[in-house]
Amino acid sequence: MGPLAKIAAGTVVIGAATFAYASVIERNMFTLRRFDVPVLEPEAEPLRILHLSDLHMTAGQRRKQRWVEQLAGLDPDLVIVTGDNMADPHVLPALTRAFEPLLAYPGAFVFGSNDYSGPVWKSPFSYFARDEDDEYRHGAELPYEDLREILTDAGWADLNNASATLKAGGREISLVGVDDPHIGRDAYPGFEPLAGAAVRLGVSHSPEPRVIDRFVADGCDLVLAGHTHGGQVRVPLVGALVTNCGLDRSMARGLHRWPETQSFLHVSAGLGTHPTAPVRFACRPEASILTLIPR
Ligand SMILES: [Fe+2]
Repeated sequence: MGPLAKIAAGTVVIGAATFAYASVIERNMFTLRRFDVPVLEPEAEPLRILHLSDLHMTAGQRRKQRWVEQLAGLDPDLVIVTGDNMADPHVLPALTRAFEPLLAYPGAFVFGSNDYSGPVWKSPFSYFARDEDDEYRHGAELPYEDLREILTDAGWADLNNASATLKAGGREISLVGVDDPHIGRDAYPGFEPLAGAAVRLGVSHSPEPRVIDRFVADGCDLVLAGHTHGGQVRVPLVGALVTNCGLDRSMARGLHRWPETQSFLHVSAGLGTHPTAPVRFACRPEASILTLIPR
């Protein structure tokens, strides 16, 4: 074999190994991230929020289901789910089992596009080269009304274009949310937080800046979102290449102060992948514990 052929063969081997790592190993390296968020009044007791997003669950993903199930052991004060739960019309029994122990806690949710309809096959590279004018293509309908019923029957607040007050950690929490802005389902409901609420939370699947600006203008201390998958594939020293929405790449995941305000944005990189691009690189699937602490 000549030197050029050796280089070509080596490149193919490294590429295949990287793809195998990203699609088989890292995609299943579920990680719990922890952040302190200074938004409570002085002297207030900490309040712990478990933030889950973008499970993109299929019926066969047993390892992910078990990992989600054991999160109840963290004993959170409040659970927030920011959508894209399903990737398979038959997943509801498995998803319900995974969520079951968490439903004992106060909770709230919004939906993402992948709660309404399943994935449509497209090139994995379209995730990185999506034309903003591309029309969103819908796959098979998912059982979102059944999921909504399961969550609301457990007492969780449905924040799809709605606000709510919940009792969590012995305190009143004011929340507002929108349905998924990524597919134009958002209709901001307005927000008048309860006087004396311990904290005000805004919740959306996609972290569209125009939505976050509305939440923050109405007094939200912390906004929770998902959708970006943290970029899904991150380049070391560069980070996310895309956010798949209007958010700056520097905020593709994690906790950030919303520019020029006192409010915070937490973007979960989520627990799944789009089924047509089943890889994660330098961006482990995650859930987060946000510990709210005094300012
Ligand atoms: Fe997603």
